Amino acid sequence: MAAGFQPPPYPFDRIDDLREVAASLPGGSVDLSIGNPSDPVPEVVAVALAEPDPARTYPPSIGSAGLRRAVADWADRRFGVELDPAGIGVCIGTKELVTGLPHLLRLRNPERDTILYPAVSYPSYAMGAELAGCRAVAVPLDAGWCLDLSAIRQSDAERALALWVNTPGNPAGGLDDLEAAASWGRENGVTVLSDECYVEFTWEGPPRSVLRHGSHGTLAVHSLSKRSNLAGLRVGYYAGDPDLVTYLQEVRKHQGFMVPGPAQAAAVAALTDQGHVDVQRDRYSRRLKSLVEVMAAIGVTAPMPGGGFYLWVPAPQGDAWGFVRYLAETVGIVASPGEFFGEAGADHVRLAAVAGDDRIDLLRERVGI
Ligand SMILES: Cc1ncc(COP(=O)(O)O)c(C=O)c1O
Repeated sequence: MAAGFQPPPYPFDRIDDLREVAASLPGGSVDLSIGNPSDPVPEVVAVALAEPDPARTYPPSIGSAGLRRAVADWADRRFGVELDPAGIGVCIGTKELVTGLPHLLRLRNPERDTILYPAVSYPSYAMGAELAGCRAVAVPLDAGWCLDLSAIRQSDAERALALWVNTPGNPAGGLDDLEAAASWGRENGVTVLSDECYVEFTWEGPPRSVLRHGSHGTLAVHSLSKRSNLAGLRVGYYAGDPDLVTYLQEVRKHQGFMVPGPAQAAAVAALTDQGHVDVQRDRYSRRLKSLVEVMAAIGVTAPMPGGGFYLWVPAPQGDAWGFVRYLAETVGIVASPGEFFGEAGADHVRLAAVAGDDRIDLLRERVGI
């Protein structure tokens, strides 16, 4: 058999043994390994989902007019950016778009073959490049876990189809200068793909979107999974460079990518309501502070992130695998070793503040605070 692509082990499957270790503690495990929101679905969405909808016809691949209008209204409210609904497309959650974009970008411009992505980041940026047969080139981060654009080699920039930016960042919570990223992209003829799925959970300063810095050469990618606890509904959306958006809308129609009709209707309800987002912001902010205290109680200093719902914790002696084992055995926390997000993060551990308040309180009890 030819030695073709073999999928690597899925990162989160590599800590299944730690899940068992943590589960054996009285009271069970507190799983903070995956950024899987577990809080209730907003009431307005539950109501919209209960509406009878026979979903008989194919839903529009680009998204219903109502959904694209709701996205435009939300962007105006949150960023003060005016979007034409015609320049918005929807996706089935953003992971499929993140892993699929490099392939589509390469088909559009076969002369280039490189995807640039943050050296410590969501693993799907590199995976998407690999699935497209592209070179995945990691861009070093600075001390604040933000892209160091000056470290990109000219030879890589010349071959690059796109640069991924993720603000607030998963896993480290950094806040990039999106204006600088957009300018760098335009100067180098590289599309800037800005994954903004944690934007509602920006703790330092106002929410940031690349869309505030012009649409030419940029694409903002958003999701309802984190904003509205709707990871199970699978709704995301993108907007930006008019030519690129039109290209994606057309190709994705051919590919048959469609968000189910009832999910699109529910997404309108979610986007129209900001109250549930405020409630969720309070939850994450409270839990992050509580987890900082839990870490302090075991002698580990963890900084609050600039945004997002992860704590990015320096492992004692830089031994991340040792630290995740210690956390599972003694506190019952299932955490992700930083290596999952790139070699440059291998001395850190990520905790997702997604467990319910009662579970976080159990951790406090266990460490005696
Ligand atoms: C940075 C980042 N982008 C995209 C996603 C994908 O989210 P979804 O496919 O649910 O929209 C995630 C999920 O954890 C993420 O952390």
